[in-house]
Amino acid sequence: MFANLEALPADPILGITKIFAEDPRQNKIDLGVGVYKTIDGVTPVMKAVAEAQNTIISKEATKSYTPPQGAPGFGEAMLKLLFGDSDVLGRGRCTAVQTPGGCGALRLAGELLNHTGAASITIGTPTWPNHKPLLSAAGLTINMVPYYEAENSAIAFDSFVSAVKKLGPKDALLLHGPCHNPTGADLTPEQIDIIIDVAQERGFLPLIDTAYHGFAHDLETDAYIIRAMSERLPEVLITYSCSKNFGLYKERTGGIIYVGENAERASAVKTHIMNIARSNYSMPPAHGGAIVSEILHSPELTKLWRDELAEMTATVRSNRKLLVETAAKAGHGNYFAHIGQQNGMFSLLPMSDAQVAALREDHGVYAVGGGRINMCGVNEHNVQHLVDAVNSVVNG
Ligand code: LMR
Repeated sequence: MFANLEALPADPILGITKIFAEDPRQNKIDLGVGVYKTIDGVTPVMKAVAEAQNTIISKEATKSYTPPQGAPGFGEAMLKLLFGDSDVLGRGRCTAVQTPGGCGALRLAGELLNHTGAASITIGTPTWPNHKPLLSAAGLTINMVPYYEAENSAIAFDSFVSAVKKLGPKDALLLHGPCHNPTGADLTPEQIDIIIDVAQERGFLPLIDTAYHGFAHDLETDAYIIRAMSERLPEVLITYSCSKNFGLYKERTGGIIYVGENAERASAVKTHIMNIARSNYSMPPAHGGAIVSEILHSPELTKLWRDELAEMTATVRSNRKLLVETAAKAGHGNYFAHIGQQNGMFSLLPMSDAQVAALREDHGVYAVGGGRINMCGVNEHNVQHLVDAVNSVVNG
């Protein structure tokens, strides 16, 4: 059956972790996969998560199935976190189903769109390398349009809006929540409002993929795109990952959120989402969802979690500053300046794939193809080596 299958190339992001681990060089720098790291290169278990986990384990009396919508209380807590006091929640227009990570949510969203006859999904380029495979595996036709110009390190907003104006009621538009991956270049609230006006006019459905909620500014500011779109549009889909903001990477915890015209629509669509999940993996793993639910139902743990998240966000911002300042001192300020204005874990260094390879092979600096660097891998011990290596590769 499988005799003719050839081995596939390594995943463009996950493959980096393996080759980095095999590199014997002492001064190597891992700027690959999007995980938070302390200055010592550790991705810690958050204290709020450890406490919630201890409570759950001490209380656990059964390993029987969780309901198809996920751990008890997960969906309700997620909706409260996303919508706060918004009328979207008050009117019961939204519903949430727990999924195996943000990837599981994207797969369900893709299948839901496909089942209901969506013509295509439009995605701004560049985007997270897994968007296209995930959504095309769900049966959608992918339409790539310009989002960001690497030469100017800026959003190509006019080109993006022109492309979006061509969409119609059978189309979906993928938008990134806070902390665009891979560019770190987020739409401003004014730009989001323009996209909402176009969506009202053209009738397409926004799918907001949110994997870094809280990592740009704070949980409330970062929710603008979700709240504004949900308040002003009749339908919105949101895919959500708890990997980064709860540090639950390997627990595969996320959710799909649907906002509809009214509560009746929301409950009907929820049954379709659960039906698609049943034919994929039946129900999500329980542990991560239970942790999120435990944290968000406890005022003390919620405070601890919010404080820890704010600290991670501040660290990533100060890593950005460190890189920009070190580069400026070394006379390469212009090349790195955009990094100081962008959000979240990632930014793009304007470089070719050959230069990314040279950075890795000649200097032990591991970036993702296209020049994406994870700012969590930058620290005061390695920043000079990073600046020198990039300078040597880019300027010869
Ligand atoms: C990343 O972009 O590095 C992360 O979201 C991890 C992944 O699954 O690609």
